[in-house]
Amino acid sequence: MHLTRVAPSSYSPTLLLAAQSKPPAMLFLFLAAQVFLGTPGFAAGSTDVIRSALQNTVDCPSCLGLLTSLKPVALSGDDALITQLTGLCIQLGAADPDVCAGVVQGAGPVLGQDLRQINTTGPTAEKLCAALMGVCVSKEVIPFSVKFPKPAPAYPKVFKSRGRTPFRVVHLSDVHIDREYTTGSEANCTKPICCRDFADSPTTPTLPAGPNGNSHCDSPVPLADSMLEAVERLRPKFSIFTGDVAERAVWLINQSDVSADLHDFNAEMASKLSAPIFPSLGNHDTSPVNLFARSTSNTANNSQWVFDIQSAGWERWIKQSAASQVDHHSGSYSALVSGTNLRIMAVNTQYWYKQNFWLYDSDVVQPDPNGIIAFMVTQLQAAEDAGERMWIIGHIPIGGGDLLVDQSNYYDQVLQRYKNTIAGQFFGHTHGDQFQIAYSNYSDQTAQTAVSAALIGPALTPNSGNPAFKVYEIDPDTFEVMDSSIFFTNASDAHFQINPKWSLYYSARETYGPLVGLAPSAPLSPAFWHNLTQVFETNDTAFQIYNTFISRGGAVHACDATCKNTTICDIRAFRSENNCDTPTPGFSLRRRGEDPSHESDACEGTGIAQILSSMVSALAE
Ligand SMILES: *[C@@H]1O[C@H](CO)[C@@H](O)[C@H](O)[C@H]1NC(C)=O
Ligand SMILES: *[C@@H]1O[C@H](CO)[C@@H](O)[C@H](O)[C@H]1NC(C)=O
Ligand SMILES: *[C@@H]1O[C@H](CO)[C@@H](O)[C@H](O)[C@H]1NC(C)=O
Ligand SMILES: *[C@@H]1O[C@H](CO)[C@@H](O)[C@H](O)[C@H]1NC(C)=O
Ligand SMILES: *[C@@H]1O[C@H](CO)[C@@H](O)[C@H](O)[C@H]1NC(C)=O
Ligand SMILES: *[C@@H]1O[C@H](CO)[C@@H](O)[C@H](O)[C@H]1NC(C)=O
Ligand SMILES: *[C@@H]1O[C@H](CO)[C@@H](O)[C@H](O)[C@H]1NC(C)=O
Ligand SMILES: *[C@@H]1O[C@H](CO)[C@@H](O)[C@H](O)[C@H]1NC(C)=O
Ligand SMILES: *[C@@H]1O[C@H](CO)[C@@H](O)[C@H](O)[C@H]1NC(C)=O
Repeated sequence: MHLTRVAPSSYSPTLLLAAQSKPPAMLFLFLAAQVFLGTPGFAAGSTDVIRSALQNTVDCPSCLGLLTSLKPVALSGDDALITQLTGLCIQLGAADPDVCAGVVQGAGPVLGQDLRQINTTGPTAEKLCAALMGVCVSKEVIPFSVKFPKPAPAYPKVFKSRGRTPFRVVHLSDVHIDREYTTGSEANCTKPICCRDFADSPTTPTLPAGPNGNSHCDSPVPLADSMLEAVERLRPKFSIFTGDVAERAVWLINQSDVSADLHDFNAEMASKLSAPIFPSLGNHDTSPVNLFARSTSNTANNSQWVFDIQSAGWERWIKQSAASQVDHHSGSYSALVSGTNLRIMAVNTQYWYKQNFWLYDSDVVQPDPNGIIAFMVTQLQAAEDAGERMWIIGHIPIGGGDLLVDQSNYYDQVLQRYKNTIAGQFFGHTHGDQFQIAYSNYSDQTAQTAVSAALIGPALTPNSGNPAFKVYEIDPDTFEVMDSSIFFTNASDAHFQINPKWSLYYSARETYGPLVGLAPSAPLSPAFWHNLTQVFETNDTAFQIYNTFISRGGAVHACDATCKNTTICDIRAFRSENNCDTPTPGFSLRRRGEDPSHESDACEGTGIAQILSSMVSALAE
């Protein structure tokens, strides 16, 4: 998402005094007063040191220098770190003052913990700089061999289609429901999301928010309800939900808000959908955003409250033993789909996510934080032994530039070992209708070496295109995908604000099948998706259709030959060391005024990384 900057002159103490009493607002008032009036008690000297370290941040060594300058501040306490960073953020106009205050207050204590506990010029610090600034980026994987209880069987079970009628599955993702969405409020604001009554909202909106949503905002409740009703009319056998319930007003919302969001959406799905739902956790399904503490972290903030809520909330669908796994395996579980031989495993991908700053709180290398990879192995071995097929669902696709290359590589080892058991993989997070392909040999990417295709579901939130969900037709013997369709509602349609209409946007089998020469009874196999990328290479019309489909025609980014090359390379990478995301520093992106929302991490929203990068950009201008 584009972080809109306000010029330092566009706020004033008068405006700030009008702020109301939400905690971040209080903090920004207090800090703004310091910025303007100068407050004794905080060493002006250390602000100058941080300011000049930020100003000098241009590459990896200077970013390590910045961390080294921040360390003494962190050692003097989280309050000092938060005060200094928030003050500078406001002063530089890196974001609206309430956004500066809320984001830094949320992530500041974890960043402080990192700085206090690691060598600020060592390898962990380099990974921290990669996450914060997009410098020190390395594709080098720390070698680690995942342990398997048994070697792959010489004669794996063959799952053969008997040509029976497929069953239907709906894939929902990234609903981002904003329960404080206010019809009539300003829809064109300078914050990461609008359509709320903010403390500093104008009294007369220039663009009043309609009842069903706006492209600058997250989803209002009626939009989510209308989607669930559309899903119910399609009568799926079951649904999967690949995470991100909470709205992206991340600088305002706290643990109670996110808890309520999770409870409410569980209740709404339960009341509107008659078939089971297999959900997974997203990076927005905690507070502060993205931050899932490791079991080894020196903290009481272990995210267990999220697992407790979802264990109870999901039990009605996934049943008691899987619900207990959610509690004991950091949000991951596996559950058999009743009446089938298909098992669904949900993995908490946030322990592999670069923006989870708890992953940098120690110099001790932890290949498998919270044992998620080991959990996958036990579940897959049990499924193989039982002759079951498995689908893996999760939030963040494993091949993106926002996933740590190490854990992506270890995940790939698991996939290669259990490729005969794994019949499908489903993710969200990018907000786009996309896919990624895994190969048994990334130096030889062909239809023959394509071993798995991960299908990525589009978002409900109108913020990144037209609201949409995916519908699959599934072979009941092989559990392979026979067709993948998008249903959407057109947010630009005049009818949308009255009553969103949901309809078929396209079917992959219908649109892409003839281009690839797909046989009538063949599934949309990994080889099919690979061959489609070959069509994209030679047929630009077909590629541009795909590029338009990503946002359901709602937020299309022009994609020239260079962009197309990167896009196809990224599709062919379900292992992040193989993607073509060029390591561009976050601050230079903003310096050139580019919109980074087409990058792999549209879902990240405004976090501490965006704030720090914007501060560096502001100082460079
Ligand atoms: C842990 O949570 C408590 C209470 O919400 C908060 O005061 C504290 O700053 C948090 N610590 C970290 C390291 O986030
Ligand atoms: C910190 O890391 C750097 C770079 O790897 C190394 O040269 C230095 O010795 C480390 N310092 C400590 C105290 O371990
Ligand atoms: C939104 O506001 C900006 C200025 O803040 C203005 O340039 C733009 O035209 C507005 N857009 C709409 C749709 O009103
Ligand atoms: C969370 O924020 C809400 C609304 O701003 C507030 O009413 C509530 O007290 C806060 N809860 C906690 C635990 O800080
Ligand atoms: C992978 O492909 C490369 C290039 O074709 C080939 O040289 C290599 O032997 C292959 N590796 C394996 C393990 O098959
Ligand atoms: C993919 O293309 C290869 C060769 O180009 C062909 O042999 C194979 O049948 C195709 N597979 C599918 C599923 O389209
Ligand atoms: C290229 O793709 C377009 C759009 O799907 C299709 O109409 C056209 O026939 C394709 N061209 C070739 C040569 O296959
Ligand atoms: C959505 O509606 C607008 C306005 O009617 C139209 O221009 C646009 O083509 C539609 N988009 C799609 C994907 O149908
Ligand atoms: C992308 O460009 C590189 C270098 O020019 C080339 O080797 C590669 O084949 C291209 N890939 C695609 C998918 O077009």
